[in-house]
Amino acid sequence: MAIARRWRSIPRAPYSRFTLMLRLKNDTLIRALLRQPTAYTPVWIMRQAGRYLPEYNRTRARAGSFLELCRNPDLATEVTLQPLSRFALDAAIVFSDILTIPDAMGLGLHFVEGEGPRFERPLQHEAAILRLAVPEPRQHLRYVLDTVRQAHDALAGRVPLIGFAGSPFTLACYMVEGGSSTDFHAFKTMLYSRPQLAHHLLEINCRAVIAYLNAQIDAGADVVMIFDTWGGLLTTSAFHEFSLAYLKRVVDGIQRQRDGEPIPSIIFTKGGGQWIREIVATGCAAVGLDWTVDIGAARAHIGQDVALQGNLDPAVLLSSREVIRHEAQQVLAAFGPGSGHVFNLGHGVSQFTPPQNVGVLVDAVHEYSRAFH
Ligand code: CP3
Repeated sequence: MAIARRWRSIPRAPYSRFTLMLRLKNDTLIRALLRQPTAYTPVWIMRQAGRYLPEYNRTRARAGSFLELCRNPDLATEVTLQPLSRFALDAAIVFSDILTIPDAMGLGLHFVEGEGPRFERPLQHEAAILRLAVPEPRQHLRYVLDTVRQAHDALAGRVPLIGFAGSPFTLACYMVEGGSSTDFHAFKTMLYSRPQLAHHLLEINCRAVIAYLNAQIDAGADVVMIFDTWGGLLTTSAFHEFSLAYLKRVVDGIQRQRDGEPIPSIIFTKGGGQWIREIVATGCAAVGLDWTVDIGAARAHIGQDVALQGNLDPAVLLSSREVIRHEAQQVLAAFGPGSGHVFNLGHGVSQFTPPQNVGVLVDAVHEYSRAFH
């Protein structure tokens, strides 16, 4: 606790105290997240292991279903590495899902083919919310930690491994709604009509996310990313009260180093372009941007405090080689010269993306970005 407090009291850019990554053969991502010089702009793709890859679909079929794949550390490790065999990506992301936490809380996650996630026991009554307990990651989420450990070992330092969790708010959206939605009115109704109950749920989620991310870091995650996928559904004041406050607590609660190596954190609030400064103030190392934001304007707006990740429109990957190369160059040019940019899409890759287009993008980013470093 005393150590956590001490880290918390370091004012700005505590990450800059770290200089070298000795274990990683390719530490470009870590350097860019710490805004240190790199030879080129690192790139990885949200949902890089997913249904657009035929080898992913084959492994998923062997596992039986998406959830069985998540729960099988050998196969989850296999798919974590699959995109790296095809493309010169600068990071791997642990193959899992943000909904493992509510599942570990007993909500009973399953996936309906073509419809996305569904909970057998969504939080429909006050009593169910008051009964919730913070899961112990090493007990209830052991399969994820085993995947992190195995993926970390299998990578052997080739590139960093990204661990992740959903934000307390985004998890609450699914837990109360019971599945996917476009507006998540169930939890939004609760936060307006029963704010204390909403805060109780967010508090439990917050403690769960902190414990889960720290356990992933202990197991070998080199970077952590927090997906606040639905934060952009909120008004500015509701965003502050029901999402941002908890994002800050998560950033405060996660360890910033392991064995003397920095563990940078990335916060991605989809639709949060107008709150970038507030997100920076959480103390995260980097902010993820969706494609609606001008990354150059965002950089000018926040100064040198954090790195930025993003933000090519995933739809670009459905077009041609020429268009992909041109649009990649546009994003690089918009960010401009210097370090502190991690190239990514503005959201997950579409399942209808031709795999070779991801290769075109990764190579274009590596090729064009050298001029900016
Ligand atoms: O990025 C990666 O490659 C790592 C794996 C990853 C998955 N989900 C695998 C997955 C990550 C980081 C996530 C995060 C996640 N999961 C989020 C936040 C990011 C985002 O996309 O906004 C959310 C909201 C979820 C919840 C979730 N999981 C939904 C809504 C769905 C259905 C979406 C769909 O396209 O059908 C999932 C399923 C899921 N998670 C798939 C994958 C590869 C597809 C499942 C399949 O193979 O059938």
